[in-house]
Amino acid sequence: MVNQKGGVGKTTTAVNLSAALAIAGKNTLLLDMDPQCNATTSVGIQPTDRHALIGENPIEDNIRRVEPSALSIVPGSRSFQDLDRLVNSTHNDATRVKNHLDHAFNQFDFVLIDCPPSVGSLTQAALTASTEVLIPIQCEYFAMEGLTQLIQTIKKAIETTRGRLSFGGILLTMYDPYLELTKEVDEEVRDFFGESVFETVVPLDVALTEAPSHGKTIFQYAPRSRGAYAYSQLCMEVLQRD
Ligand SMILES: Nc1ncnc2c1ncn2[C@@H]1O[C@H](COP(=O)(O)OP(=O)(O)O)[C@@H](O)[C@H]1O
Ligand SMILES: [Mg+2]
Repeated sequence: MVNQKGGVGKTTTAVNLSAALAIAGKNTLLLDMDPQCNATTSVGIQPTDRHALIGENPIEDNIRRVEPSALSIVPGSRSFQDLDRLVNSTHNDATRVKNHLDHAFNQFDFVLIDCPPSVGSLTQAALTASTEVLIPIQCEYFAMEGLTQLIQTIKKAIETTRGRLSFGGILLTMYDPYLELTKEVDEEVRDFFGESVFETVVPLDVALTEAPSHGKTIFQYAPRSRGAYAYSQLCMEVLQRD
């Protein structure tokens, strides 16, 4: 989940799409790479002192289960030291991060990475390790602003990975069908990105805002909510595209 803007739904999507994939029977890992650790605390887990990607230990040692679901998580770390090492990574650090990620990718059907709101080194490390990038876009004024820079960064990563990384899709979030503005953003984004935009849109739903404070995914907190419905629809679309 990548977008250098904060508050567009990256974390909400990382948490609830991975929960939906786990419910669908896919062996799924949620990997928190944002030092704010919102994905980690959203599912009721404590951030770790040091990030598993930086440590010597095999990544399995740091994988936790999100009870009672079948979802696994590598918790985030708030350590500035870790951040510094990830950002200014020496060749050794970068290789270790890549090995850890490759190892994790081999064990799971899906690994979803929650990225920080930047196109800095953390996001670049996530991009070069990934096979697909999903961009959540909030339906608001200036929704498309800054996207050119983001797309440049993604293009560079696609070159670096010699095509391993591809464009996974654009997701419209906080969608209010009664707002003229939402419809305008929807049209503009679909005109520009065409097929890459998911048919599913995630509506504005207060349950999605409340669930994290209970340490629950939307499927545990409000399984009949519009948010839960949207994320299960998105999950089906992802599985169909896979
Ligand atoms: N569809 C939605 N409806 C209502 N609130 C939402 C929705 N998606 C996200 N939010 C809320 O908006 C805020 C920002 O979302 P978040 O997923 O944390 O964004 P990001 O990770 O991109 O910074 C959070 O408070 C979250 O609970
Ligand atoms: Mg976030």
